[in-house]
Amino acid sequence: MRHPLAPVALLAGALVLAGCGGSGGSKARLSVSSAYMPQPVSEMAAGFLDIANKGGAKDELTSVTSDMGPVSVHETVGQSMEEVTSLDVPAHGRLVFKSGGNHLMFDKLKRRPKQGETVTVKLHFAKSGAITVEMPVKSATYNPATGH
Ligand code: CU
Repeated sequence: MRHPLAPVALLAGALVLAGCGGSGGSKARLSVSSAYMPQPVSEMAAGFLDIANKGGAKDELTSVTSDMGPVSVHETVGQSMEEVTSLDVPAHGRLVFKSGGNHLMFDKLKRRPKQGETVTVKLHFAKSGAITVEMPVKSATYNPATGH
């Protein structure tokens, strides 16, 4: 004789969660690599890094902050640089900051960090919120291509 309240088998496995791993989905998925700051020789400094977006939607870098002082985002246009208010991180693409191109600009450092130290910056994105990046300070003439 069966118990009248025998449990009904759960429909386990009927709902498969989508979106983890796989091909990226419809959101921006950002990661930051190759960050560094050449050791500053004045109270100004530049910062370089590489932002990758593995997601299927673009995002936008809207501002950068640091406890070392004000930071602005610059683009290099010809021989001069221009401040920009935001830069796109394309879907399945990258936003690269490198010597001679886009760079972070520290306009008035509170102190001058030395090679071997780390500077913390916070990247603020329109959709992904803030990402904190530890930026190692390299020699003033550091070249990421050669590692010196
Ligand atoms: Cu600049």
